[in-house]
Parts: sequence; C-alpha cells; structure tokens
Amino acid sequence: MFKINDNYLKLPGSYLFSTIAKKVAAYKAANPDKDVISLGIGDVTQPLAPAVIDALHKAVDEMGKAETFHGYAPDLGYEFLRKAIADNDYKTRGVDIALDEIFVSDGAKSDSGNIVDIFSQDNVIAVTDPVYPVYVDSNAMSGKTGEYLTDKECWSNVVYMPCTAENNFVPELPEKTPDIIYICCPNNPTGTTMTKPELQKWVDYANEKKAVIIYDAAYEAYISEADVPHSIYECDGAKTCAIEMRSFSKNAGFTGTRLGFTVVPKELKSSDGTMLNSLWARRHGTKFNGAPYIIQRAGEAVYSEAGKAQTREQIAYYMNNAKEIRNTLSDMGYTVFGGVNAPYIWLQTPEGMKSWDFFDLLLEKANVVGTPGSGFGPSGEGYFRLTAFGTAENTKKALERIRSL
Ligand code: MLT
Repeated sequence: MFKINDNYLKLPGSYLFSTIAKKVAAYKAANPDKDVISLGIGDVTQPLAPAVIDALHKAVDEMGKAETFHGYAPDLGYEFLRKAIADNDYKTRGVDIALDEIFVSDGAKSDSGNIVDIFSQDNVIAVTDPVYPVYVDSNAMSGKTGEYLTDKECWSNVVYMPCTAENNFVPELPEKTPDIIYICCPNNPTGTTMTKPELQKWVDYANEKKAVIIYDAAYEAYISEADVPHSIYECDGAKTCAIEMRSFSKNAGFTGTRLGFTVVPKELKSSDGTMLNSLWARRHGTKFNGAPYIIQRAGEAVYSEAGKAQTREQIAYYMNNAKEIRNTLSDMGYTVFGGVNAPYIWLQTPEGMKSWDFFDLLLEKANVVGTPGSGFGPSGEGYFRLTAFGTAENTKKALERIRSL
C-alpha cells in the first residue's frame, strides 16, 4: 500500500491565488451580469512585443525543417540565451557571471520552489513577512517548516521577519540565526525595495553567518530609482552567499510562454566545500529537460535593440497604471506603499479592516479583485495588494468603482 507525503496534508488551505480564483469564480457564477475587474494575481495584459513575436515565428519555422530542427535543449539552456543574459543583465552592471553559472528554466516560480531540493531538512529558514507564498509552501511540502500554528497563521520553524510601515518594509536582522534567507527585491507583495547599502548589510550578514540568500529579482525591470540594485551581485561578496532568480514573465510578458533563469555562482559553497552550482546542475539535469527552443529564441529577442525598446514601453505602460493607482488611492485617503520601483501597490485597509473582509467588500461592492495582505503572511494583515498589470482602461474603471464605495 503506498504512503503519501503527508507534508502536503499539513498545508493550510489551498495556494493563495487558487483560493482567490475559486472565490472569484463562485462570485461570477452567482452574478453572471457583473463585470469583474482583476487587479489580483500579477498577470500581464499587454501582448508580447513584436520583436518577440518575430523571433517566435522564425524559430517555429526552423523547427519545421530538418536542417534547423531542435530536440532537447542543452541542460543549462542554449548558449545564445545565456550569453545574452550574462552580457545584458550582468556585464552592463559591472558583474561578471560565467555562462555555466546561468541555468535557464521555465520560470522563477518553479526555480524558487525547486531550489529547496538541494538543502537539508535542518536549515533554519528566514522569510520577509509578508512573503511570496511559494517560498514557504515549497519548504513546507518538503517537510522543512515544522508545524503549522493555526492561531498564528505561520510555521513553527520559519523565522518571519516583519516588513511593515514601521520599518519602512526593510527587514531587520533576525534574532535567531537563519541558514537560508529569502529576499525578493523589488518586493512581491509590498512593491517596496532595499537600497544597495541595505542589501549589502544582508550580504555581509549572510557571509558572516555562512547562510545563503535566495534572491528573487523577478521585478528588477521595474526599478526606477538609482540607489536600488538590479542584481544582488552588485553587492560586494554576494557571489559567496547568494543565488539569484529572474523571470521573463514580468519584464517581457512571458507569463503564458514561460521562461526564467537562476544564477548559482561557483564561489558559493557549503561549509564542507561543496559547490551549490554542481548540486543545482545535477538537479536541473535530472528533473528538467529545458525550456523549449522557440521560447529561448523569444527570450533572446527580448535583449535585441528592438526588444529592449518595446519591453521598456510595456513596463512604462504598467508603471503608469501604478502611478494612477497610487495617486488616486492617496487622494481618496488611503495610505499606500510600493508602486515606484514595482508593479504592486500595497495599501492599508480602511479603518483597520481585516484583509479578507476588504477583499470581500471590493469584490462584492466594486467588482474589483485584489489580493488580501494576510494571504502573504501574518504581517500582511490589515494590508491589501493591487497590481498595475491590468489594462489602463480597467485600472481607471476599477479606481472609479473604489472611489464610489
Ligand atoms: C503574484 O501575483 O504574486 C505573481 O504573479 C505570482 C507569480 O508570479 O507566480
């Protein structure tokens, strides 16, 4: 008789965005005449850039000819893409990343969930709170988080580092020394960032404690302020303590085409000298057969001159929505954060309303979907996330409806 992995049974509820999708589907089924606007999950609405579409067409044609057909992709990803990444994302910022330190994948979500495989059960995990739920849930699925404390809505073996208006959303160094530290910057869900000196403090701390930082830079393309680092490797010493994840979903609209990558520097070693790069290469080669050739060619096109110009326009479009949301909500008297270097706006719920109550109010009275802050962790209670990834038209309409509440 088979046995199941009962870590799954300990998981509370369903995945945050699945819970929201179910609630919205139920509301729509009961109210088929309502026009519901989603500013909930951070999914893009602009079509892929023309340069990306051209590259896709070209690659599809290649796949139809014997001379240019491609089967399995190389383990780490095609060199043309890894070179474009190394040159454009790192060299331009003074960071030297070798091609065999870049692992192309189908996105930052799977990489951030899968990376737990190379770490032991005994690590102390620290997360900023609120936090992108994948980090904690993927550790919970592999039995690394202890017991779920229902009354506190958190896990016993996870160090939660509160990020609230009180500390300007910058986590303080924790009392209990962690082994693995998750940092997402620009942050999902709060849309806030750390300056380079603030991040350097974490890099120094991780090196001193022999901890590893898992750095999620999926929203890097939205950074507008000069003092916010685009990569953790801009900080001195980061190569000995940090793994960085990136995505093509948010900077180039690949949520439906799927592409991302993870950088694991060869200098990053465990206390017995084992290179994490080798472990991740082993895991990647065993459990993953590569992002499709046509999608990797599309990714390469993001770095072409036309691709860069076109994706910059898309980012400007979303950031215009972000500005609109920030300004309009502030005007209405809401306290808002984020939305300057990120496509997320994090607001305080009115009169201290519970996050899920505000979710229900918005859905039922304004037909607008957002994301309740408490879904991202205990410190998210009393906050609410809106995304700037909607169309400009829907964003304006949603704000008018919120105004008339
Ligand atoms: C979010 O809404 O937090 C993100 O879109 C989810 C994701 O990127 O997986």
